[in-house]
Amino acid sequence: SFEIELARSAMTLHVPAGKTVLETMREAGLTVPSSCEQGACGTCLTGVIEGEVDHQDVYLNKSEKASNSCMMTCVSRARSHRLVLDI
Ligand code: FES
Repeated sequence: SFEIELARSAMTLHVPAGKTVLETMREAGLTVPSSCEQGACGTCLTGVIEGEVDHQDVYLNKSEKASNSCMMTCVSRARSHRLVLDI
């Protein structure tokens, strides 16, 4: 499990194993767009301000993943204890 800090929403949420970042944000009342929810379409793209992403999608290319500046919240998780998202 890991934490997500939502910079613009001034909220910190706990993402347990078995729950996605997208689901966690929705449960907290945020309106977050999504479509495929399988890491393929790009709809849920979210900016990452801090922390290391465990990319699980097939949408971002290798250099986008390496840049660590965005993530697909429907499938990707964190390698670090905490991610700060631009949302
Ligand atoms: Fe399609 Fe996340 S909803 S990549």
